Amino acid sequence: MTQAPILDVRDLSVALLSSTGNLPIVEDLSFEIGPGEFFALVGESGSGKSVSCLALMGLLASHLQARGHAALCGRALVGDGADPRRARSGAAMIFQHATQSLNPVRSIGFQLMETLRTVRREARSTAKSSAIGLLAEVGLANPERLLAAYPHQLSGGMNQRVMIALALAVEPTLLIADEPTSSLDVTMQAQILDLLDKLRRDRGMAVLFVTHDLAVAAERADRIGVLYAGRLVELGDTQDVFSKPLHRYTAGLLASMPRFGAPETRLPALAGSVPLPGAWPSGCGFAPRCVAATDSCRAVHPAFRGEPSHRYACHHPVRQLA
Ligand SMILES: Nc1ncnc2c1ncn2[C@@H]1O[C@H](COP(=O)(O)OP(=O)(O)OP(=O)(O)O)[C@@H](O)[C@H]1O
Ligand SMILES: [Mg+2]
Repeated sequence: MTQAPILDVRDLSVALLSSTGNLPIVEDLSFEIGPGEFFALVGESGSGKSVSCLALMGLLASHLQARGHAALCGRALVGDGADPRRARSGAAMIFQHATQSLNPVRSIGFQLMETLRTVRREARSTAKSSAIGLLAEVGLANPERLLAAYPHQLSGGMNQRVMIALALAVEPTLLIADEPTSSLDVTMQAQILDLLDKLRRDRGMAVLFVTHDLAVAAERADRIGVLYAGRLVELGDTQDVFSKPLHRYTAGLLASMPRFGAPETRLPALAGSVPLPGAWPSGCGFAPRCVAATDSCRAVHPAFRGEPSHRYACHHPVRQLA
């Protein structure tokens, strides 16, 4: 990343509040996203991807609490002086199940125009033409007719496009996309990813893309952050992370990825599973599954180290940075 970041996340932590003590769910996340950048946050189920995004959007449930600091275009989202409602006006979020995220009893037109009238303070007639424009921009045919349709009348892919149109209504500088394609078939998945790429180029909008699909991250992302048990374990330019992984978890994930044209052999699988919050080991969270773990890994949590373009948290990296 060469330009100044638009999203700056420093030591973001999220805890589950309970009468018996607070349970950490996400710990000390630090990363940046540049203008117009496609940043992929990858990790297995339960690693804390969604909770981190919801913390940035100020949408955490009341029994979850965010600490640390995050700012979008210099305005605090989390931490001192945070006014998430004002700051997040530059950010929008789309979710995995678009059909469930839309209001089932309101037409597409109503939902879009309501957002445009509230956020952009547009008059009814202007909001209608803006809504048509947004539906066309996200590649939906017959946008005028679609205004009267309800979510249940549309396919999952069409509803995801409507969600993206709703997100664009706030003219975001950052779009947070939490597994927006994982409930779609492969063809539709590629179309939605192409659309996000096009919007990013046309509008200069940055994308924080959450996925557990490494192939998608490899193909689309400029930079990638790998999350494991609530912590970032590796962060860097996609090319560097994929060609020269440093953390043994990342290396294990990559080794278990099927490759086109590779000889047909059994792929190595990472033994074990991600520990749940509350069952995190002391020291490195990956140590119980790591072939290279030593006593120091089990005792001391590795600090994040490396270079700005490629950082990692591991006592015994796969290789030394050149
Ligand atoms: N509202 C909540 N209340 C209590 N615990 C929660 C809540 N939301 C998430 N968690 C817990 O926080 C951890 C991280 O959850 P999160 O949903 O962020 O994972 P994820 O990486 O998005 O996984 P997935 O790939 O399955 O979506 C999980 O152990 C989950 O059970
Ligand atoms: Mg999730």
